[in-house]
Amino acid sequence: MRAVGVKDYGATPELLDVPKPAAGPGQLLVRVEAAGINPVDAIIASGASGSSGRPPLPLVMGVDFAGRVEAVGQGVTRYAVGDPVFGRAAGTYAEYVVVDETGPLSPAPDAVELKTAAALPTAGLTALGVLDAAGVRGGESLLLIGAAGGVGTFLTQLASARDARVVAVTRGDESVRLGLFGAAVTIDATAEDVAGRVRREEYPEGVDVLVDLVSQDAEAFEANKELVHDGGVAVSTRGATREHGKVQSGVEELAFRMQPSAELLAELVKEVDEGTLRVFVEEEVPLEQAPQAVARIQHGGARGKTIVKP
Ligand SMILES: NC(=O)c1ccc[n+]([C@@H]2O[C@H](COP(=O)([O-])OP(=O)(O)OC[C@H]3O[C@@H](n4cnc5c(N)ncnc54)[C@H](OP(=O)(O)O)[C@@H]3O)[C@@H](O)[C@H]2O)c1
Repeated sequence: MRAVGVKDYGATPELLDVPKPAAGPGQLLVRVEAAGINPVDAIIASGASGSSGRPPLPLVMGVDFAGRVEAVGQGVTRYAVGDPVFGRAAGTYAEYVVVDETGPLSPAPDAVELKTAAALPTAGLTALGVLDAAGVRGGESLLLIGAAGGVGTFLTQLASARDARVVAVTRGDESVRLGLFGAAVTIDATAEDVAGRVRREEYPEGVDVLVDLVSQDAEAFEANKELVHDGGVAVSTRGATREHGKVQSGVEELAFRMQPSAELLAELVKEVDEGTLRVFVEEEVPLEQAPQAVARIQHGGARGKTIVKP
């Protein structure tokens, strides 16, 4: 089957011809309708080993997918051939992917096209997880750095739906789109001093919650954390905290790690089907153009999500 991935860790992604997988006991073979691109895809392809070690080569890229069940393995009870599903699995930039029935998998939402559901898993679960980890339940002020990308557009919507007041920070003017997603204020970091604006006009005493999707090092994260008041929470999705779970200078620091599950995917489905969560697909590319799309996203500039169509 056709797939996109790397023949060696850190190599440039390319179109590959790999064996079509088969569903083992308890597994589903899914015909991929679309795969969602995430920053983590390039990190995995670089060979940066996760907790389960380096995946074997050649490595088919991608973790997010939506598609239809093509075949079921022995003992599968929850899904049948033809069911529309979405979730996370290893190697989704491909025509087919195999997933465990008990893995992070769910029936796809009804309210969006099946291919669009491929944009949801990683970024949507991260947005949901961050809000839960930070204890956002309603009424909080939330400063969101990197609001225009995949996680940011979902988080803006989910936080606003919980009645949090989102101050969204972007590079470039994204005020119209993020306003539609529920942001109370959008600050263009290329045109304004973000810290000055927040301190002067928005929250002189500091915000309740910082979600930093951008800072890669502790110094940059600490600078944003200065905008949180004592007793508040500062979350990094990039491991930029000095000490996870510790209260540093009066603010709790959280280094967020997304934990995918079928239950959390079902929560996302509910949000989408009830109309609280809209999925903004910025670009749809054919499988052959996935390497270029991955390279573009690595250089920044994401606005919503990009999906790949095999
Ligand atoms: N820990 C976890 O479990 C977990 C889970 C999911 C994602 N992540 C990480 O979280 C980060 C965000 O993920 P994503 O999927 O949302 O990435 P994305 O879709 O690439 O979006 C990142 C956004 O940040 C913007 N940005 C970059 N620098 C900025 C700055 N200084 N100020 C304002 N905006 C800025 C980018 O646009 P411009 O380049 O145009 O500014 C882009 O819109 C990634 O590093 C990803 O690896 C971690």
